[in-house]
Order: sequence, then C-alpha cells, then structure tokens
Amino acid sequence: RAQMQAQSLALTEAMTQACDYYRGQLRHAPDAIAYLKNRGLTGEVAARFGMGFAPGGWDNLRAVFSDYEVTALVEAGLVIDKVDEEGNHRKRYDRFRDRIMFPIRNTKGQVIGFGGRVMDHGEPKYLNSPETPLFSKGFELYGLFEARQAIRDAGYVLVTEGYMDVVALAQMGFPQAVATLGTACTPTHVQKLLRQTDNVIFSFDGDKAGRRAARRALEAALPHVSDNKTIKFLFLPAEHDPDSYIREFGPEGFEQQVHEAMPLSQFLLKEVSGEHDLSEPEGRARVQFDAKPLLQLMTPSSLRLQIVRGLASLTESTPAEIEALFELARPVAV
Ligand code: CTP
Ligand code: MN
Ligand code: MN
Ligand code: MN
Ligand code: MN
Repeated sequence: RAQMQAQSLALTEAMTQACDYYRGQLRHAPDAIAYLKNRGLTGEVAARFGMGFAPGGWDNLRAVFSDYEVTALVEAGLVIDKVDEEGNHRKRYDRFRDRIMFPIRNTKGQVIGFGGRVMDHGEPKYLNSPETPLFSKGFELYGLFEARQAIRDAGYVLVTEGYMDVVALAQMGFPQAVATLGTACTPTHVQKLLRQTDNVIFSFDGDKAGRRAARRALEAALPHVSDNKTIKFLFLPAEHDPDSYIREFGPEGFEQQVHEAMPLSQFLLKEVSGEHDLSEPEGRARVQFDAKPLLQLMTPSSLRLQIVRGLASLTESTPAEIEALFELARPVAV
C-alpha cells in the first residue's frame, strides 16, 4: 500500500511537471495562441484551465524530466512504450505532439490526465490520456475542479460533451460547466454531480451522437433520481454544440436554452412515445413496453409515480395497471 502511494505520487508529480511544461510552451507557440484566439478564448480563461501546448517532436519530455523516469512517464501515459513481437526493439516516444493541451484535474486539483487537440484537421481530433492508476474516464468530469464554486453560486451544473464546450461556456459567463469527455455519462458521473448540486442540466451536442448521449445520460440518471433533485436536458439545434451556440447566440441565447431545458420526466415520456401511434392498442402497448426498463431503473418516489401517471394517460391505462404489468416476470422464451 505504501508502495502504491509512492508510485501514484510519482505519477502525480510527472503530470504536474508535464502540465507546467505544456503551459510554458504555449507562450512560445504563436500558432497555438492564434488558434485559441481564433476560437474566441482569452489568455485569462486559458490560464484558468491551465491550458498548454505540446510541441511537435518525439522526445521533448526527455529534456523536461532531467531524471528521465521512463517507467513513471509510461505509466502516466505521457510516453508510449512500444516493443516488437520478439520483445527486443523498443520505441519510446511522447504521446502528445503538436497539440493544444487541456489538463484534467481531480477534485483535489491534481492533474491526472490530459486531452490534446490538433490545430488542423488531423486525426484523431482529440487524443486523451489512457486509463491509468490516476485517471479513469468513467469517473472523472473535465472542469469539475474549476467549476465547483460556480456550481454552488449558480445552483446548477451544466454537463457537456467536450473540453471546448466547458472552456467556451466559462469564457462567456457560464463557469458552472463540466464535460464527460466524449464517453457516455455513467451512473458514477451522476452520483458525483449530485454530491455538488441538486440541479443537473445535460447539454450535449445537437447532432445524433449528442442525442444518443442524452439517452445514455437519462439511463445513468434514473437510478439516482429523487424528489429533491431536478434533472433536465437541453437540446440544441442539430448543427450546434454549447460552444458554437453561445458564440452564435451569445450568453442571452444560451440562458434562454437553459430556461427552456426539458425536465427528465418529459424527456422520458417523449423517448418512450417515439414514433408510436397512440391511437392504436399496438402503439400504446409498445410505449409501455419501452417504458418498462426505464421505470424499473427508478426507486420509488413521487416523481416516479407521476411519470407512471403520465404514461397511464398516454396509453389509456391506470397507474395500477401499469405497475401490475411492470411487476410481471418476463415470460420464458421457448
Ligand atoms: N473526443 C475524443 N476523441 C475524439 C473526438 C472527441 O476524445 N477523436 C471527445 C473529446 O472530449 C471532445 C468530445 O469527445 O471534446 C466531444 O467531441 P466533439 O463534439 O467531436 O468535439 P468538440 O468538443 O466539439 O471539439 P471542437 O469544438 O474542438 O471540435
Ligand atoms: Mn460531437
Ligand atoms: Mn463535432
Ligand atoms: Mn462538440
Ligand atoms: Mn465543438
């Protein structure tokens, strides 16, 4: 255990040192500065998020870490260590090259991972730290450390998909934003958020992937819904994400979207209604069929009861009939 603590301390130190290095490099990278300016960011907001730049070249970190502790750097995901099939020929090189760097901090403020964005149309657009003893994507939320006080002040948190959404929203007056980093929002994420605030607003991209992310977030949230928590979903036009939307329509436009965000109950009923024809028994049956797995994720609450009532009225049933149906064991397939 002591050894494990020493090891993760070495990792944390490597991350901090790398972060300082990338930040310093940004000052000497006019292209990177121009890129950020072009995306509307000020030096102030870049500093708030500790943004930096990883220069091109394969072994810059070797010079940064005088006591080149390669095992720690490999374990931290900063250096990639490739060995051929025979286990002889090793290649070691910096993971992040020629990218804008976003440090990911844990709730203590320690740097535990990075995301790096290309400045042109290279692939992949974002490169992220791998899963390490410090960093687990399904657990961490980008920007949570930076947003904590703002979440308290605003009384709610905005959950977005991406680094740039968080940074742009902060720049434009919404510092209460975090991001799930392109992965699905997990129940762990939801729990973490609900420890900070009673009000969560999911604000994913307007495209198909964003709508899918909203559906996954709904499923992640349902087990944690209770009557003193409010969860909402903000749906942007298909061509927008929070960053592009607030740039086009300004803080007032985005505030209006926040104001109009759809409560979870309404989103759930809309999801299960889908394209089904409620004028036919088959359509109404299908709606109940789709609702069952979602309602089974919920613990008893007033909100659950009211969703069941909504479902009952949509499907010409009574709440008691619906509950009875949901309690039936699955028929055995033959
Ligand atoms: N993402 C990733 N790897 C990729 C693409 C996306 O890890 N190749 C993650 C990043 O965290 C990214 C998020 O998914 O921020 C959302 O993806 P996308 O909407 O495509 O990117 P944006 O955040 O909108 O980035 P930008 O505005 O810089 O294009
Ligand atoms: Mn997207
Ligand atoms: Mn996109
Ligand atoms: Mn996006
Ligand atoms: Mn974007």
